[in-house]
Amino acid sequence: MRILFIGDIVAKLGRKAVSEILPSLVEEEKVDLVIANVENLSHGKGATPQAIDEIRGYGVDIMTSGNHIWFREETYPLLENDPTIIRPANYPGDVAGFGFTIATVSGKEKVLVVNLLGRLWIPDPTEDPFRTIDEIIADQCAKEKFAAIIVDFHAEATSEKMAMGWYLDGRVTLVAGTHTHIPTSDTWILPKGTAYVSDVGMTGAQHSVLGVDPETIIKAHKYPYPQKFEWVETGPKIFSSVFVETDKKGMAKSIKRIDKILE
Ligand SMILES: [Fe+2]
Ligand SMILES: [Fe+2]
Repeated sequence: MRILFIGDIVAKLGRKAVSEILPSLVEEEKVDLVIANVENLSHGKGATPQAIDEIRGYGVDIMTSGNHIWFREETYPLLENDPTIIRPANYPGDVAGFGFTIATVSGKEKVLVVNLLGRLWIPDPTEDPFRTIDEIIADQCAKEKFAAIIVDFHAEATSEKMAMGWYLDGRVTLVAGTHTHIPTSDTWILPKGTAYVSDVGMTGAQHSVLGVDPETIIKAHKYPYPQKFEWVETGPKIFSSVFVETDKKGMAKSIKRIDKILE
């Protein structure tokens, strides 16, 4: 199976980059399943139901998210009812939405997609992501045989992400880090067959700091005054993703970055 994972799609330029690249990329690489992180889909803050529909139209099958998905209350009912968009599984049980989902590829093969939130430097109320993933894998693998298991580990610290990669080596197909918006070059296959990347990186405005106008962020570092975040909506766009091919055992045969810059 051939799986494409797109990093945090940020605001209008991010959606535009997906629209310009994804349809032809799916064809060129014969992609079977497209997963994308959408926590910043709508003006950088959360994802409106309309924007979710929009990127689904470009070919995104499953959407993961993270700590920034909660900005828009109008999306909560969607999170409760639409299993193709998930939020981190280690939020407490009474938080809206699903923490994992099962995608069906080519009408038969099942792929388990899990979203987790890191705990280092992310103050959200969450349970231990390590014990959470253990429980999900045990429960779901007892019921179903998966052609692949994909984990979006939405976390700040590379140390926590790497630890998760090693923890899941041989048990899942891909551990893809998201949240920092900065792509890392450590696309590795760990010894027992799990593909790993510390951060997929963002898809959005290139001339920005994580999607935001650089001037605003520079001011925020220089002055104590509150700053209104302006999301960059013009100029060149970056598209950041990783592409993974699975073997018959559901482990990774290969992983590569697919990154593009569009004027
Ligand atoms: Fe993000
Ligand atoms: Fe995030």
